[in-house]
Amino acid sequence: MDSIVVKGGTPLNGKIQIAGAKNAALALMPATLLSEEPLTLTNAPRLSDIKTMTQLLQSLGVEVTSMQNGKVQVLSSHDMTSTTADYEIVRKMRASNLVLGPLLARHHQAVVSLPGGCAIGARPMDLHVSGLEAMGAQIELKDGYLHAVAKGGLKGARVPLRFASVGATENILMAATLAKGTTVIENAAREPEIVDLARCLRSMGAQIDGEGTSTITIDGVDRLGAATHPVVTDRIELGTYMLAPVFAGGEVECLGGRLDLIEAFVEKLDAAGVDVSETPDGLLVKRRSDRARAVDVTTEVFPGFPTDLQAQMMAMLCTADGTSVLEEKIFENRFMHAPELIRMGANIEVHGGTATVHGVDRLKGARVMATDLRASASLILAGLAAEGETVVSRVYHLDRGYEHIEEKLSAVGAQIERVSE
Ligand code: UD1
Repeated sequence: MDSIVVKGGTPLNGKIQIAGAKNAALALMPATLLSEEPLTLTNAPRLSDIKTMTQLLQSLGVEVTSMQNGKVQVLSSHDMTSTTADYEIVRKMRASNLVLGPLLARHHQAVVSLPGGCAIGARPMDLHVSGLEAMGAQIELKDGYLHAVAKGGLKGARVPLRFASVGATENILMAATLAKGTTVIENAAREPEIVDLARCLRSMGAQIDGEGTSTITIDGVDRLGAATHPVVTDRIELGTYMLAPVFAGGEVECLGGRLDLIEAFVEKLDAAGVDVSETPDGLLVKRRSDRARAVDVTTEVFPGFPTDLQAQMMAMLCTADGTSVLEEKIFENRFMHAPELIRMGANIEVHGGTATVHGVDRLKGARVMATDLRASASLILAGLAAEGETVVSRVYHLDRGYEHIEEKLSAVGAQIERVSE
């Protein structure tokens, strides 16, 4: 199994190209199931989660052609062979559940295993299920699988969400494009990935209004057609690389970065003493002094501070001047990186959904491992500033969400390499 070895203390200078968003692509790919005609995605990220979604779609009979070294994906659901999403694939990745809405919408039936994914809390699917039931689906849980049917097709409905779930909004949005009549999703998620999905569906012929706000209205149409769609920039990859020069010093330009994707995060960086400026090609980041200042952070749904950047921010605050309080409001059990950062010399106390970080002068390299994707990224970042060598194992978590992290960081001067053990 591969590990990543980082030697701290080298300032970073240069440009890092930010990829297309993993979380957008994982919703855009299943959108192919809504149409007989091909869907072409450009600016697709090259990640193991994308391979998992490809495998899942292929198991349903979708033809997936990868071009330009994986950056362009052409998907065709013309000759579907199955409407069952098998546990063996779904267990690898929670986002597999995004085939449920499209399958029900076009084929009026679906059997989808309950998902696995990152070990960051219970992550149920009740909102997906109740939304689709409101649209006329009958859904039963049998042997770990959701068995869903919509005799005569889905019908438009009012779907109020108890929580603005990203995945539930995506599933219901996709399902509603082919439902009879009008669907109104209330308390919809507003994440940029939802906006990206709505734009793609509209290019396919869907009638959607209000994406990016809390109320999305969808007028169902009879069929969707072909489209070509560029995947939006990955705001989480962007935020992760924006932190790299804060840990290591120097100046890094994140190409493709956009402030509107990441405003709440940039506000916290500013308060911590980090300069972020817009350039014609992206965002330029450098710290104002050697040591960041402590800041308090609460994770929220978009446009609030993203939970997917909480671990990386915590790593940064480990050596900030003062005490920071981080509150995790989206997922329970999302501080698994704290014990690993403590092994590197951090001073962190965790009580339920709150972590208090007392800044120390310096972290020290250690052997660490993480049990989820963003936690792994936080340990790599911590290694950039730590004294000595940090070895991050279980790199397969990182490969789910960061393409060639060691290549991107070493290109700007980091001492980082992947080793096979
Ligand atoms: C998506 C992202 C993930 C990110 C998360 C929150 C993808 C592929 N993944 O995950 O990286 O961390 O948004 O921004 O886009 N919930 C329920 N019932 C449900 C659905 C969700 O109670 O039916 C709860 C979850 O347990 C969790 C919260 O809602 O506490 C947020 O989940 P949700 O927004 O659905 O996240 P995902 O779509 O799974």
